Amino acid sequence: MSESKFLKTVAGQRFATPPIWLMRQAGRYLPEYRAVRATTSSFLEFCYTPDKAVEVTLQPIRRYGFDAAIIFSDILVVPDALGQRTWFEQGEGPKLEALTDPADFGKLSRGRLPEKLAPVYEAIRLTRAALPKETALLGFAGAPFTLACYMIEGGSSKDFAKVKTWAYSHPESFGLLIDLLVDAVVDHLSAQVDAGVDAVQLFDSWAGVLPEEQLFSWSLQPMVRIAHALKARHPKIPVIAFPRAVGPAALMYRRPDAFDVLSIDTSLGAHWASRELQPQICLQGNLDPIMLVAGGPALEREATRILDKLGHGSFVFNLGHGVVPQTPPDNVARLVEIVRNWKPSAA
Ligand code: CP3
Repeated sequence: MSESKFLKTVAGQRFATPPIWLMRQAGRYLPEYRAVRATTSSFLEFCYTPDKAVEVTLQPIRRYGFDAAIIFSDILVVPDALGQRTWFEQGEGPKLEALTDPADFGKLSRGRLPEKLAPVYEAIRLTRAALPKETALLGFAGAPFTLACYMIEGGSSKDFAKVKTWAYSHPESFGLLIDLLVDAVVDHLSAQVDAGVDAVQLFDSWAGVLPEEQLFSWSLQPMVRIAHALKARHPKIPVIAFPRAVGPAALMYRRPDAFDVLSIDTSLGAHWASRELQPQICLQGNLDPIMLVAGGPALEREATRILDKLGHGSFVFNLGHGVVPQTPPDNVARLVEIVRNWKPSAA
């Protein structure tokens, strides 16, 4: 049995207070992150420099003692490794040379992925060796639909009209892209497990733009296929699913055959989730990241409310989405204190 409170919780054990880590816990809100980030102009080059990736992965662990570290990388290393031109523009976010035609898929190849992403796996080996044994190390990947969004839109989008039009009008060719991404993500996650991660999270950040029927085909099914294929290679590896902004369709993601933890965003009520989801699957979430910006009594009340609703069951404390850059670091320290000092009431 692992030494970590996070892994023991995922395996069904209960503690007086839940484990805590935060999505985007390494990032621009930390001055020590900005200092390392300033040494490399290209964000992808930063991700591919193991010493720097290790350092910024460890920073939030040193500062806050979270129960899990998440390897510093990005979901867009997968399209980059498949051969699609990918870069980050200062203040604008990710840019990709958009796929506009099924013929463009022919340019993508899984063959180079292990070599191209070797620095990520090296960073994982070094991080695992440097982390205390009670801290779990998480790997991650973007889910196929979210990757397809960036690959077809060529970056972020307001309405995701290009990717959705393609998926609705040409489901056969869209399905070929999803199949390619399922295989690439399985390779990437499997290599992360070989390098030493203790669990993995699949980020389907844009799942919520799809209607329910399409959500089943293009978000849930590919994620289930990835989890099954990964577990065929690594039977014990816990998988966290994060289908963001899907509302009550989160019910579809209660799939203990595939997922060990369901990460819920801010839009789901903790009370509803405790009744409808938690009896069947360990939950993670769901504090509004802006509560961490607000701090003070609002943070205290909301974190305690979530703990009172979800802390009695199988639960990992987290946010409903990532830490935002304007978050005061002291508010994160306060949140960790609130979670670790929480006293379960007789519910
Ligand atoms: O601490 C961690 O959570 C680990 C590192 C991590 C990053 N990105 C680092 C990063 C993780 C898990 C991600 C996942 C990721 N990347 C997602 C899924 C989660 C989500 O937010 O929905 C998505 C959609 C991306 C794509 C991406 N990367 C965008 C849209 C951006 C630009 C927006 C922004 O915040 O700048 C990035 C850049 C990025 N990835 C940064 C970090 C810390 C900031 C860039 C910088 O420091 O220059």
